[in-house]
Amino acid sequence: MTSLVTDTRPKPICGIDTWVPVAAEIIEITQENFNTLTFKMRFVEDIHRENYRFQSGQFNMLYIPGVGEAAISISSDPEETETIDHTIRVVGSVTRAIQRLGVGGIVGIRGPFGRGWPIDTLKGQDVVIVAGGIGLAPMRPAIYELLRKRDQFGRVMLLYGCRSPDDRVFADELEQWTEDESIQVLVTVDNATGGWVGPVGVVTNLLQRVRVNAAKTVVMVCGPPILNRVAAWQFLQLHVPPNRVYVSLERNMNCGFGRCGHCQYGRKFVCTDGPVFAFSDVAEIFGREEI
Ligand SMILES: Cc1cc2nc3c(=O)[nH]c(=O)nc-3n(C[C@H](O)[C@H](O)[C@H](O)COP(=O)(O)OP(=O)(O)OC[C@H]3O[C@@H](n4cnc5c(N)ncnc54)[C@H](O)[C@@H]3O)c2cc1C
Ligand code: FES
Repeated sequence: MTSLVTDTRPKPICGIDTWVPVAAEIIEITQENFNTLTFKMRFVEDIHRENYRFQSGQFNMLYIPGVGEAAISISSDPEETETIDHTIRVVGSVTRAIQRLGVGGIVGIRGPFGRGWPIDTLKGQDVVIVAGGIGLAPMRPAIYELLRKRDQFGRVMLLYGCRSPDDRVFADELEQWTEDESIQVLVTVDNATGGWVGPVGVVTNLLQRVRVNAAKTVVMVCGPPILNRVAAWQFLQLHVPPNRVYVSLERNMNCGFGRCGHCQYGRKFVCTDGPVFAFSDVAEIFGREEI
């Protein structure tokens, strides 16, 4: 079974070739939780603002001179062309350097790279989104798209899990999506702190609360490897076909466009064949981290 995805990816916006980043200014920073921030960025030059387009689930390489580059998913609405958001967990040298820059700082961007979520194939389908922690970041553009074309899809569910209520990213939007009921939102936490009255436990437990019509369901999963693995297997056991279960994977990146081999995953390159894969395309190696 092959994936339902067709290749309609926009061309990367870069300098004279795909290795050369272009400048973008950080114009706003939102603190999502203790170590995660959303950076709203704007290309410095008009030509890049006019030409840069991306698909939900794609990523950019963010560059800080003298420090290095990191792959970061785009977390804003693909229809918003004036600015782009990156939601970043500060874990190491590049992400710390981006945090230090603050508003007004200049970041180099190469991208967009990779294969995103199969939005064009979702018409008439039920859509189940499963996200853990910062895994909601590459899902947010897809959620905006689903909301905008809401009447084209069947049921749309978001199952989201994180360590505690304070660890949620996009907390205001989660509440807004829950309130307006155009999608069904279920959030669970590992530790119910601060008066939390919602579900407690791992995100895959939420599946027990969901009725899945396997014949017309597409699943999109993004989280830590253990979540990706358990969620994918649970939906396969519910008889959702493997070419309808999509997972976004992480690998060490360098070039971002299929030249260096750093992101190799079996016979695939995560930067060009992914990061979003249909389970059917990676079934033989899925979950084998050493690959
Ligand atoms: C396709 C793709 C999309 C990504 N999207 C995002 C995104 O939207 N937001 C985001 O914050 N990150 C994202 N990442 C992960 C990000 O690229 C890495 O965390 C990157 O290593 C950070 O660079 P750094 O220089 O700050 O950290 P490094 O200097 O590379 O790492 C420093 C230390 O942090 C540890 N570390 C690295 N990554 C992680 C991690 N993910 N969790 C915990 N510890 C870690 C390393 O083991 C190391 O010890 C994505 C990765 C890929 C491949
Ligand atoms: S990052 Fe270079 S081949 Fe994928």
